[in-house]
Amino acid sequence: MQKKKYLLFLGAWACLFMAGVGACRKPAPRTIVPGTVWHDTEGNPINAHGGGILYHDGTYYWYGEYKGDSTRYSPDICVGWRAEAGGVACYSSADLAEWTFEGVVLPPDTADPRSDLHPSQIIERPKVVYNDKTEKFVMWVHIDDPNYEKAHAGVAVADSPTGPFTYLGSCKPNGEDSRDQTLFKDDDGRAYHIYSSEWNKTLHIGLLNEDYTRHTGTYTRNFVGQYREAPAVFKHEGKYYLIPSGCTGWDPNTAQCAVADSMLGEWTVIGNPCKGEGAETTFGAQSTFVLPVEGQEGRLVAMFDRWNKTDLDDSRYVWLPIAFTDGRPVIEWKDAWNLDE
Ligand code: GAL
Repeated sequence: MQKKKYLLFLGAWACLFMAGVGACRKPAPRTIVPGTVWHDTEGNPINAHGGGILYHDGTYYWYGEYKGDSTRYSPDICVGWRAEAGGVACYSSADLAEWTFEGVVLPPDTADPRSDLHPSQIIERPKVVYNDKTEKFVMWVHIDDPNYEKAHAGVAVADSPTGPFTYLGSCKPNGEDSRDQTLFKDDDGRAYHIYSSEWNKTLHIGLLNEDYTRHTGTYTRNFVGQYREAPAVFKHEGKYYLIPSGCTGWDPNTAQCAVADSMLGEWTVIGNPCKGEGAETTFGAQSTFVLPVEGQEGRLVAMFDRWNKTDLDDSRYVWLPIAFTDGRPVIEWKDAWNLDE
């Protein structure tokens, strides 16, 4: 009897000890290794290019181009290399390190060759924002023909961040071209569409309507005649920042940073935010989005795509932290870095 009590006593202590170890165990380091192949929780390479991230109710949702493994060179199209448009993929994560594939939330339309979403067309640079009034998730995406002459912006909506998204159609905002693009939702609930226009010569920034599905007609022309594309925007200490690339197709070029007191401008160019070796070619990559990390005041992650034009679905992700030096954003190469540092 005595022995049984003793064993029970020992067992209780062992349980308490194990529970303690579990509670004290440090979470796995959230390490980002730019430029390597990143896998989802099922072990497949993440296929979400030219993308952006939405944080909603404790989860990050990464939306990006789902590229078919069909890259080929077409001498008759302006960009040469292209892959089938596979729609828009979504991955979810609680910590920005482990990503679960949620599916192709805006699927291609394989049945109708005239559809904007047919795999023969261009479906690029999707971005999603949440509308608090309509409680809808609103996606804007670059829609084009294989020669990039259509220059439309497409819009889709969903009731859930993981879709399915319903495609509403595409347009030329304010009657003008829309190619590389992003969205920005401000603290006051207003949302803006930022897009390369006028044959990519000039970047337009347009205010969206209350439900974020249309333009209001209020827009500004920025960087006139300067050929900026791949815009990524963020707000820091009350100022707005915009990081676009130059215009050289799949090949990397020098990024630029501009600052403004209002999203509609005026924008003042403050130079290349990338510093150190590789800075002139944005470390071989091109801007797509800047993510403010939840719960870490001032922590910003610059997201870039390192395109592999001869095998587009093998294009890599380059995420780097943005530091501020003398009030200016600075991005330096890191072989590996920890999101919690
Ligand atoms: C880039 C653009 C990419 C893609 C590519 C095609 O300029 O940023 O999103 O459209 O051209 O060549």
